[in-house]
Amino acid sequence: MNDLEQLAAAARADFEAAPTPAELENAKARYLGKAGRVTELLKALGALPVEQKKTRGAEINQAKAGIEAALQARRDALAAAELQRQLQAEALDVTLPGRRRGTGGLHPVSRTIERIEAIFGSMGFDVAEGPEIETDWMSFTALNNPENHPARSMQDTFYVDMKDGEGRWLNLRPHTSPMQVRYARAHAAKYAGVDPMPEIRVIAPGRTYRVDSDATHSPMFHQCEGLWIGENVSFKDLKVVFIDFVRQFFETDDFDVRFRPSFFPFTEPSAEIDIAFRSGPLAGRWLEVAGSGQVHPNVVRAYGLDPEHHIGFAFGIGPDRLAMLRYGIDDLRLMFDGDLRFLSQFN
Ligand code: PHE
Repeated sequence: MNDLEQLAAAARADFEAAPTPAELENAKARYLGKAGRVTELLKALGALPVEQKKTRGAEINQAKAGIEAALQARRDALAAAELQRQLQAEALDVTLPGRRRGTGGLHPVSRTIERIEAIFGSMGFDVAEGPEIETDWMSFTALNNPENHPARSMQDTFYVDMKDGEGRWLNLRPHTSPMQVRYARAHAAKYAGVDPMPEIRVIAPGRTYRVDSDATHSPMFHQCEGLWIGENVSFKDLKVVFIDFVRQFFETDDFDVRFRPSFFPFTEPSAEIDIAFRSGPLAGRWLEVAGSGQVHPNVVRAYGLDPEHHIGFAFGIGPDRLAMLRYGIDDLRLMFDGDLRFLSQFN
């Protein structure tokens, strides 16, 4: 190997060893820069005799061309490696399954309440909502529950050690029945002087509270109040309306209904409504789905109406119970644990 071949080999080795473009440019300067070794050789040509100049000059240029080619090859290799590195860092695996955004859904109780609203809506019932923190007067007194009467413990609620602006004790409503009074009073005020007064037909779903907790009772649960008041609305209308509701709700005619005599201070007579399917997994078992009755005259008075002219029925449905029956859920607490493994089955 002559000196030029050695120089070219050294340059190639230096370039190959440069790990980055910056270091490669430093290596280039050592050979091709102003004070680089190739440049030094070209400068030294001047001192040679004329005959040698030509051949030596051609040889140096050939070596220089080889060194420049090696430099370019290394530049390309480093750029290709950098591109490869970037591609890997930003790699997209198009074969991975997509990550979907979780979708929300309706709680089984919300679905059930929507279903109840749709069915009663089709029968001309309005839908109303009211406060969960109620006054003692609305929860009990207006509903013909005299103060200190033991019947109040039927709906034993959470009492709040606080009074409203008018000095009335507050509680978490133990049932949706206060909505009978709120809605009827607003209706009576709205149609004051209108004769005959349009009928009251309303359902009022919502949360209710009682001091109760086991597999079939939760301290927070749902009710849906129903009220139909007119000039001549009676228990037979309750039967027609309720049976029609059950038929539509469960999409079957294959059940029996029983109005079992009961007691509520705010209705007279009062009845629990039980249903029994004639087929399916629950066949033959009586299941209580609502409390009901003809509204007591004292309650009609609390509505601000005259019980001689305005009569009708009320009922209180348990949407939680209906949801359990419809979906085959056996523990009420599952519905309020908020476990997505349970809840996502309904959507
Ligand atoms: N409020 C009653 C309860 O909580 C149910 C009911 C409503 C009964 C309306 C009669 C009329 O059990």
